[in-house]
Amino acid sequence: MKLLFVCLGNICRSPMAETIFKQKLHDRHLSAEVDSAGLENYHEGDQADSRMRAHAERRGYHITHISRPIIRDDFYHFDLIFGMDAQNMRALKSRAPQGTEYKLRLITNYCEQFPLADSVPDPYYGGESGFELVIDLLEDACEGIITRELL
Ligand code: 4NP
Repeated sequence: MKLLFVCLGNICRSPMAETIFKQKLHDRHLSAEVDSAGLENYHEGDQADSRMRAHAERRGYHITHISRPIIRDDFYHFDLIFGMDAQNMRALKSRAPQGTEYKLRLITNYCEQFPLADSVPDPYYGGESGFELVIDLLEDACEGIITRELL
């Protein structure tokens, strides 16, 4: 199984999702190919946002991903491609080559502890609590993905 997490800049939400998912795989002795990418290339080559990395470290996660933009080949290579909000999903749908749209998923559809969540809100222009919410929602969604797609 090959999974790709996508957000706008690939410096906050999707590298956090990638890191949480890899940690969960490691904890359960499962394996899968996991990566993340951005819909925009403004941050290409950058480490994850320092605030996201700090919140991650406090919760036991170490983000090492370097931002990269999504490319056409990703839509063919990966089995499942997860967007963080409705805007991401619109962009993914418009860029997906014909016949690859079936791989696209809104990540919050996998949440179980937050059943009413319909997006992982962009924390970039908000406060500290936004980064904690990103981690809470992504831990929940990643658990759901493992249960529903990998087990
Ligand atoms: P992300 O957050 O999509 O979760 O990585 C953002 C990072 C940067 C920007 C927007 C969102 N930006 O506008 O630069």
